[in-house]
Amino acid sequence: MDPIQLLLEGVLDHVRPLTDGAPAAYIPELATADPDHLALAVVGPRGRIFSVGDDHIEFSIQSISKPFVLALALQEHGLDAVLQRVGAEPSGEPFNAISLEARTGRPANPMVNAGAIATSALVSGDDIDERTGRIVDMLSAFAGRSLWIDEGVYRSESETGFRNRALAHLMRSYGIVDGSVDTAVETYFRQCSILVTVKDLAIMAGTLAFGGINPVTGRRVVTEAIARDVLSIMASCGMYDFSGEWMLRVGLPAKSGVSGGLLAAAPSQFGVASFSPRLDEHGNSVRSTAVMERLSTSFGMHVF
Ligand code: DON
Repeated sequence: MDPIQLLLEGVLDHVRPLTDGAPAAYIPELATADPDHLALAVVGPRGRIFSVGDDHIEFSIQSISKPFVLALALQEHGLDAVLQRVGAEPSGEPFNAISLEARTGRPANPMVNAGAIATSALVSGDDIDERTGRIVDMLSAFAGRSLWIDEGVYRSESETGFRNRALAHLMRSYGIVDGSVDTAVETYFRQCSILVTVKDLAIMAGTLAFGGINPVTGRRVVTEAIARDVLSIMASCGMYDFSGEWMLRVGLPAKSGVSGGLLAAAPSQFGVASFSPRLDEHGNSVRSTAVMERLSTSFGMHVF
C-alpha cells in the first residue's frame, strides 16, 4: 500500500474508538445517518488525491456550503458590499444563535446560520431555482464535478427550519435580507442539501488552499483575493463557539457541518477533509475534529 494511504489509515484507526456524541437529530433526515461511517481524504498541489475509509459515502454538505456561498457573494458584489450585510467577527455563540448586531441587525459573520442566510440572499437570481443553480455551479467548480441536491434532506430541512425562518424574518425587518424571505430561506436550505463525498470536500478545501485554483481540474474558480478572504473568515469563525480553541489546537482554517463533514486548508500545501456523523455539543464532528488534531500535531500543520 502507498505510504501516505497507510499513514491516513493509521489516523483513522486512532480515532475509530471514539464513539461519543450522536448524529444531528434536529433535521430528521440526518438522524438516519450510519454513526459508524468514517472517512478521510487529502489532496495535494498537483491534484493527487489520497482517501481512506468510507470515502464513497455521500452526505449533505450542510454548513460547509457557507464558505463557498460566501465566495460567490464576494465574486458578485465585492468585499465591502458583503460586509455591509454581514460582519466578520467570531460570535462565540452556537451556530443557530440570534447573533445579530442590536442596532443594525447585521449578523456577526457568514459562518453562523444568520450570517449564512444573509450571504445566500446576496446571490443574484429571480427565484429559488436560479439562485440555487448559481450556488450548485459554484460548489461544483470547487469540487471539480457536478454536484446534486438531496431532495429528501431539503424537504426535511424545510419542514423543520422554523428557527432559520425566524432569523430570516428578523433580518428582513432590518433590511439585511431584501425581498422574499421564503426565497432566501429555501435557497439556503437547498444549498445545505447538496450531496458531497469526503473527496469532494478535500478538493474544495484544496481549491481554497491553492489560491482559488482547483488542483484537480486546474481551473481557476475564484480569485486569489477571494480565496484569501474566505480562508480568513474560516480561520476565525469556521468552528462556531469552538473556533478559538480550534485555532489553538489545530491551527488551520476549517469549516464543519452538522452531517459530520469537516474540511481544512493548509495554505499552498493541501486540502483535507474528514467525515463521521457523531457530533459534539458545538455541532462539530467528534471524530473529524480528532482526525484534524492528529494530522496537525503529527505533521506540524499548524499555520503558526
Ligand atoms: O441551518 C441549519 O440548521 C443546517 N442546514 C446547517 C447547520 C450546520 O451544518 C451547522 N454546523 N455544524
